[in-house]
Amino acid sequence: MDVESVASEITKVLVTEEQIKSRVSEMAKQIDSHYTGKDLLLVGVLKGAVMFMADISRALESRVQMDWMAVSSYGHGTQSSGVVRILKDLDADILGRHVLIVEDIIDSGLTLSWLVANLKARGAASVEIVSLLRKPDAAKVVVDVTWVGFEIPNEFVVGYGLDFAENYRTLPGVAVLDPKTYN
Ligand code: IMP
Ligand code: MG
Repeated sequence: MDVESVASEITKVLVTEEQIKSRVSEMAKQIDSHYTGKDLLLVGVLKGAVMFMADISRALESRVQMDWMAVSSYGHGTQSSGVVRILKDLDADILGRHVLIVEDIIDSGLTLSWLVANLKARGAASVEIVSLLRKPDAAKVVVDVTWVGFEIPNEFVVGYGLDFAENYRTLPGVAVLDPKTYN
């Protein structure tokens, strides 16, 4: 799916495929050096982080394992409810392990702050976060994110895994959805 095919549904492209690619490799180097000599488990948050997980995991030189969680905080709307529910739990036991949460975007921060507390309570040796995007204006909760790809304005975005009602996930870059598309 290319941007031209949805040109009338978006207002602008915020982050291009090329920008994502180069930022992902920068962050991968930082992550590699942070975890040198440690055993690392990547935990992707379904479904939005699928593209980011696929790219950043392959950009790492470290040997890592991969696991997934699915949580719900949104339903089909564009506003976070703050109510988090586990839809799919980890397969792995994370007791004593170094865990890196791989997330697509931090909006209110409610989902991640809940997730970090949940994973720490299971006895992980460490829990860090890498998020491709962050909307700083919306921070209702302070979340300590170790690596952020891009700071973006407070607009609803789609693409590179991010959806609106399950659409647009396969766009190669990140674009602002035209409000007339969801209003
Ligand atoms: P938070 O709990 O408000 O930080 O919401 C985090 C989750 O909401 C993310 O993992 C996304 O799945 C979703 N989300 C937040 N903002 C957007 C957006 O602009 N586009 C698509 N999904 C979003
Ligand atoms: Mg998500």
